[in-house]
Amino acid sequence: MNRTSVKAARLESSIGNTAKVSGWVRTRRDSKAGFSFIEINDGSCQGNIQIIAPGELANYEDDIKRLTAGCSITAVGEIKESGGKGQATEILASEIVIHGWADPETYPLQKKRHSMEKLREWAHLRPRTNTFGAVARVRNSITNSIHQFFQEDGFLYVNTPVITASDCEGAGEMFQVTTMDMEHIAKQQIEKLNYKFDFFDKPSFLTVSGQLEAETYACSLGKVYTFGPTFRAENSNTSRHLAEFWMVEPEVAFNELTDNMDLAEAFLKRMFADALKNCGDDMQFFNDRIDPDKALISNLESIIGSEFVRLPYTEAVEILENCGQKFEYPVDWGTDLQSEHERFLTEQHFKKPVILFDYPRSIKPFYMYCNDDEKTVRAMDVLVPGVGEIIGGSQREHRLDVLEGRMKEQELDIEEYWWYTDLRKYGTVPHAGFGLGLERAVQFATSMSNIRDVIPFPRTPGNADF
Ligand code: 4AD
Ligand code: MG
Repeated sequence: MNRTSVKAARLESSIGNTAKVSGWVRTRRDSKAGFSFIEINDGSCQGNIQIIAPGELANYEDDIKRLTAGCSITAVGEIKESGGKGQATEILASEIVIHGWADPETYPLQKKRHSMEKLREWAHLRPRTNTFGAVARVRNSITNSIHQFFQEDGFLYVNTPVITASDCEGAGEMFQVTTMDMEHIAKQQIEKLNYKFDFFDKPSFLTVSGQLEAETYACSLGKVYTFGPTFRAENSNTSRHLAEFWMVEPEVAFNELTDNMDLAEAFLKRMFADALKNCGDDMQFFNDRIDPDKALISNLESIIGSEFVRLPYTEAVEILENCGQKFEYPVDWGTDLQSEHERFLTEQHFKKPVILFDYPRSIKPFYMYCNDDEKTVRAMDVLVPGVGEIIGGSQREHRLDVLEGRMKEQELDIEEYWWYTDLRKYGTVPHAGFGLGLERAVQFATSMSNIRDVIPFPRTPGNADF
């Protein structure tokens, strides 16, 4: 068994060699001529590996002929060009080892196609399906592109904390962090102490965004990005919201809003171009089997090849008010756009990604740069067809007096943010950044309709099991 392992993705370049392949059985067919075809998948690509198991193998009758979907095996043999349909290569096995059986009576992933809802119940086994294998590979490609894009451009990767006392977005949608020290808490209560907080001395939460901390590094080192899990206790049961998701947040000193838009547009295009280049088979699979219009690849290509629309919020409201379309929610200057409005703009009106900017200041967090009109702030959202908001960002308010005014307006405790205002006291600079939700990017790149199916273990209201 001491042979070089070859992954399915590299089989073609190994024709003529004797090698070892390992994976999980998808199907077994026995030929009348006394041998069997076994298809395994090893996770490296869409394609299965076809193994020919000759009847002469020592364990042919006892083991090979009992193989069913889900069993795990390793086969050694010569890699040959395949005469059959559907695969370019096959391996003629001289030895097959069975690592694990999978009882066909109970193994959930039988040949029949399961619904996405059903597969969510088997989050531990769904990566063995074509769809979830493909999602994992495209997600990996996008993650890789994120690091490459920023690293090639001289950005520093900084790690911001998961536990924090500040509510960056000011929406009050934070999960509080407490300890499991129930005995201690009970004792405190019995003693009728005014016991409020354990461990951190003050209420602490899981972060909703690493932005504020990323700003501190940008205001010392120039160009940085943070990329990690973020948490939102928003009770929205939609196909675009998770309670735990991954966000990448670049932050750049000396950048203003237009630079921020340029960066966001180049960044998205690079990610999608890499997915098309590096995950060709998987992207073809999503195009043919998941996208109802079978137009995913051509849509992505046209997005990569054309400029995004850049539109002030005020003009978007005018378009929506005059388009003649009946919306469930009214469009009103000063309120946030609903997803039906965003969809209209990207899917019907412009038919491409739209960067909306200069939002009403009353609906945006304290840290955004106030425009001279005193009504709007330099916020930007990137909206894409099918998904809606994929990026949210802004130029940051770097003028101390204006920032403090905004904090008062929003009734924030300025003292608590002393470190944040320090950045404006000492060597303040214009700066800007944004956050991209990784799962929304994967959703868009794959045309998967529910965000729960593009993260391995989705956390949503009522679901944190496994
Ligand atoms: O627009 P958001 O809330 O912006 C921020 O958090 C800023 N502090 C980012 C920054 O400027 N550094 O979130 C940014 C992005 C959204 O555009 C969306 O893609 C994603 O994060 N997002 C979610 N993804 C999944 N589930 C949720 N509940 C999400 N909330 C936001
Ligand atoms: Mg947003």
